Amino acid sequence: MLIALIHQQHLDLRELFARHQEALLQGAFDEAQRWLSHYMDCQRSHIQIEEQYLFPLFEKIERASRWDVSLYKQEHEKLEKFMQETKQDLEWLMQQDLSDSDRRRNIIALIDKQKTLKGLNEHHEDREETAMLKDLEQQLDEKALKFLASDIKFTWAEVKAAVAHAE
Ligand SMILES: [Fe+2]
Ligand SMILES: [Fe+2]
Repeated sequence: MLIALIHQQHLDLRELFARHQEALLQGAFDEAQRWLSHYMDCQRSHIQIEEQYLFPLFEKIERASRWDVSLYKQEHEKLEKFMQETKQDLEWLMQQDLSDSDRRRNIIALIDKQKTLKGLNEHHEDREETAMLKDLEQQLDEKALKFLASDIKFTWAEVKAAVAHAE
């Protein structure tokens, strides 16, 4: 239940980043910036959900998986750093007066650089789904899981509504 719920959030986030990259690839910078901003807002809210609802519980339960909460926190910090970097790179690119060819090459360079963000994010999501969330599902009772899921669902619905409203 919890795994499926968080997995759906991970998919929603991937979709937003894909929209950003699609626009970037077309050289539609304003649109790329808009989708990146939605992605960052949602990724930050997602991180907040995990840190507020899941991490305190994960710290308390008996862990069967290898990693404790500090690794997940560190990865969140790295994600934040890479998101800010990509935002700054895009802002820089938008300010340049470039030939068509140079613009295309800079877009390629930015998409290449974003591989680090995507790779870290994919590993992180995978770790959450196969380790932390699996532990939580096994250790928490049915009632606690239900409460947790409904809180998380409600919060994410609000986050998504804000993006839909802004579009
Ligand atoms: Fe996370
Ligand atoms: Fe996550």
